[in-house]
Amino acid sequence: MLKEAVRVDVHAGSRDSPVWIADGAAERAGALLDAQHVGSRRFVVSNPVVWRFHGDVITRALGRLEPILIPDGERHKTLQSVSRIYDALILGNADRGSAIVALGGGVVGDTAGFAAATFLRGIALAHIPTTLLAQVDSAIGGKVGVNHTLGKNLIGAFYQPAAVLIDPLLLGTLPRREFRSGLYEVVKYGMIASRDLFDRVARDTKAIFAREPGVLLPAIVESCRIKADVVSQDERESGPRRTLNYGHTVGHALEAVTRYRRFRHGEAIAYGMLAAADLAVARGALAERERQTLTGLITQLGPLPPVVDLSIEEVMEAVRRDKKVVDGRLHFVIAIQIGAAMTIDDVTEDELKAVLERLGLKRGRRTR
Ligand SMILES: NC(=O)c1ccc[n+]([C@@H]2O[C@H](COP(=O)([O-])OP(=O)(O)OC[C@H]3O[C@@H](n4cnc5c(N)ncnc54)[C@H](O)[C@@H]3O)[C@@H](O)[C@H]2O)c1
Ligand SMILES: [Zn+2]
Repeated sequence: MLKEAVRVDVHAGSRDSPVWIADGAAERAGALLDAQHVGSRRFVVSNPVVWRFHGDVITRALGRLEPILIPDGERHKTLQSVSRIYDALILGNADRGSAIVALGGGVVGDTAGFAAATFLRGIALAHIPTTLLAQVDSAIGGKVGVNHTLGKNLIGAFYQPAAVLIDPLLLGTLPRREFRSGLYEVVKYGMIASRDLFDRVARDTKAIFAREPGVLLPAIVESCRIKADVVSQDERESGPRRTLNYGHTVGHALEAVTRYRRFRHGEAIAYGMLAAADLAVARGALAERERQTLTGLITQLGPLPPVVDLSIEEVMEAVRRDKKVVDGRLHFVIAIQIGAAMTIDDVTEDELKAVLERLGLKRGRRTR
């Protein structure tokens, strides 16, 4: 099936969740989903932006269909959007044999995935991710869910897709900043698991930004393999899966204090990785030379929004709210060299404050 496609498997719970990666995979979605027996009827969930760019390919591949469109943007990753999907499914007479095909970035994937996990106690789900972040991260691993007004991703489930179809050609229309945001997650995989991947991003930065298939596809494949491996060992994040949170303690806090408006997710993670590397160097766990290599690559990838006006104290509060603190000590993922990470559980608040200060954040209680 799907000649020249690379297959990566997520082994989770009772069944395997296959990920197919190939240039042109979207065009062959119909044949592929047929072969995997994904749904006798398929309901495509997308948003207007993605559908405008890629609706024709999907219509050619799956036959004429009426997509279920949810509004674009993180602020629409809500139960209200899930509800709109339920309405359309019910009006369309969806049954247990039906499937949802999520076509979009992480917002569409998480929202449509949650609808699939809960409609009729679960119908089949396929992802066709259209952002780099979704292709290397959010479409793989089975986390689905939506935000609550009081916090991000508070409502959700583990629900493995019946298939994931990754077509790097769909990224041709993605704005550069969105593309770069996903690339920081690729750098993260390099930091935690593959020196080779890290070096390739550094060496081939231009070709990757140009989305040259011969360079981009292998980087996506390697990232998917790393995520699939880690998730297969630990679906519910009790151990190894935590290393995927490299850069995310500080990253999530930066996103929260700026109310998810200033940073694209990957940009916040870039700062988070710089923070983790600084902390590791200060502890003597990472060589200074390795830290400089990471800083060099992040600088090379492009500018990041500023952090100088953000208050260290507010960021610390956000870290505490993120539940990673136990008895005043933080759980934290550090890389001990480029390509290897470990979790530590004895980081003190003072230690992290010092790191944030060196990162350029300001003392004092208030942001701005
Ligand atoms: N489930 C998980 O394991 C997991 C992991 C990481 C992130 N996430 C979630 O993913 C979300 C972020 O995902 P994202 O970064 O993909 O953002 P997104 O889904 O908001 O997409 C970013 C923007 O790009 C547009 N877009 C998508 N594909 C396009 C294309 N091919 N061409 C042009 N424009 C396109 C979208 O319409 C949107 O405006 C967050 O909600 C985050 O919580 C989930
Ligand atoms: Zn992330």
